[in-house]
Amino acid sequence: MQIFLDTADVALLKAGIATGLIDGVTTNPSLIAKSGRDFKAVIAEICGFFDGSVSAEVAAVDAPTMIAEGRELAKIAPNVTVKIPLTRDGLIATKILVDEGKAVNVTLCFSAVQALLAAKAGATYISPFIGRLDDMGMRGMELIEEIRAIYDIHDFGTKILAASIRTPDHVRDAAIAGADCATLPVSVFEALYKHPLTEKGLEQFLKDWAGTGQSIL
Ligand code: G3P
Repeated sequence: MQIFLDTADVALLKAGIATGLIDGVTTNPSLIAKSGRDFKAVIAEICGFFDGSVSAEVAAVDAPTMIAEGRELAKIAPNVTVKIPLTRDGLIATKILVDEGKAVNVTLCFSAVQALLAAKAGATYISPFIGRLDDMGMRGMELIEEIRAIYDIHDFGTKILAASIRTPDHVRDAAIAGADCATLPVSVFEALYKHPLTEKGLEQFLKDWAGTGQSIL
């Protein structure tokens, strides 16, 4: 499963990418607002040091303007993935941009039938929002399971990009459910490799090793 980072914070992103484990980056208007920076400048900066998929979201709600914005964003760098909300106009814009050869991430997906339409439009990625469904008392992960089944049965190539991921358990469950990718806040990514028994075990190994008086180098 591919791991993407869901942030527009360039410093945090660079630290995450330094692990060599990051396959992509997603941003959204809220994350750009939080960064306090110019949208296109942030996307250009990220694409300057990272060559995986970088999602940049359109701000328009009508198809012609979404298409124009998507074309503009795609000009920033070849690895820009245009992010488009899952609306009627968004699906129209997706089909046209995909037909032009642009990568498109269809976002704000909350149902399996929405995901079916995104796949029919040729979306490169579909972003089901797990945490926001959980917030409403639903089981967000069921959506990933349903989309996986539909895409497999009907042989759709659209990649499932699990989004609105809040915990390491979400990452585990998305992986088991067959998500192709998951986009994580940096804090969740950092929590993935941490385990108290790893820290405790390492502490003991280091203590015992020091007692041997040996060195490897
Ligand atoms: O970028 C889209 C998604 O990951 C947002 O997550 O936590 O705001 O629901 P959240």
